[in-house]
Amino acid sequence: MFCSDDAGRYWLSRTGGRAAPELFPELLGAYRDLATLATGARSLISLGPGDGSADVELLRVLSGPDRPLEYVGMDINRVLLEHVLARTRTVARSTGIRMDFEGNGGTEWIRAAPGPRLVSLLGNTLGNLDVDEYDFVAKVTGALDRGDCFLVSLACGRFSEQDIADRMNGLSGLRTLLANGLLSSGVVATLDEGEKEVQDAARVEAGTSDIPGCSALKVVHVPSGRRLLNVRRYDPASFSAWMASTFGLLLVDARCVPVPDTTIAVGAWLFRRCGTRCFDGSGWRRRR
Ligand SMILES: C[S@@+](CC[C@H](N)C(=O)[O-])C[C@H]1O[C@@H](n2cnc3c(N)ncnc32)[C@H](O)[C@@H]1O
Repeated sequence: MFCSDDAGRYWLSRTGGRAAPELFPELLGAYRDLATLATGARSLISLGPGDGSADVELLRVLSGPDRPLEYVGMDINRVLLEHVLARTRTVARSTGIRMDFEGNGGTEWIRAAPGPRLVSLLGNTLGNLDVDEYDFVAKVTGALDRGDCFLVSLACGRFSEQDIADRMNGLSGLRTLLANGLLSSGVVATLDEGEKEVQDAARVEAGTSDIPGCSALKVVHVPSGRRLLNVRRYDPASFSAWMASTFGLLLVDARCVPVPDTTIAVGAWLFRRCGTRCFDGSGWRRRR
């Protein structure tokens, strides 16, 4: 869905190239508070920076006169990546990697960055991925060394019947982005055709999640059977417990920020790898 240049331009047009609508001041404040606890980080590795608003804030907190920072932004979208690099270059030594990180979690780039590292996965990106949460988080956190931190933010709450109806009606708001998914996967030949297909043939159905307490929906293109979008909302306490018990991470601190005019909140968590063991996708092994 996020692959094409059109999708990137659409995203930036929604955010106006400034703070994304969901990045209201309280949320940026929460990210800043949590970033100050990632003391001594020498690099920020961002999985899916979007328009980069959050990352610029994080870099400002982490950088100091005697602390040169490395920034690595990984995104599937070329337009977004170029936009982000233009913004972050003024604050840090920046590298952009255009890739689909769902396969391996971007782990080679996480490992290549200087430690201690702060790895970020913000704006409910985990809740929108095609892959299951467990596989993805296992790979990302398996690449962390002792002292590295992981900052993640998710939409929190549950879908109600009304939400589902609103989402159906609200598909119009997302139509261009969803239509790009159909276009980039070859299901339709033009964006116009894709927009019409989304309007006529996209349906909201129950989705899936690995994480207890999660409420999940998916948007499906009925004729092709293609899943266009996952939308998941999480229960904050269950998510913290799942992260700590499944991956052995220490919860450093968390924030929960209500989203104005909605029934959801954004939860943000900072975890630290403290132990000497790591999870490599198939089991626990001792770090050297
Ligand atoms: C929901 S947006 C979040 C943006 C930003 N982190 C924020 O908090 O506003 C998801 C971002 O992840 C990128 N993305 C989504 N799936 C991806 C994938 N499989 N590989 C690489 N980037 C992906 C999108 O292009 C977009 O920049």
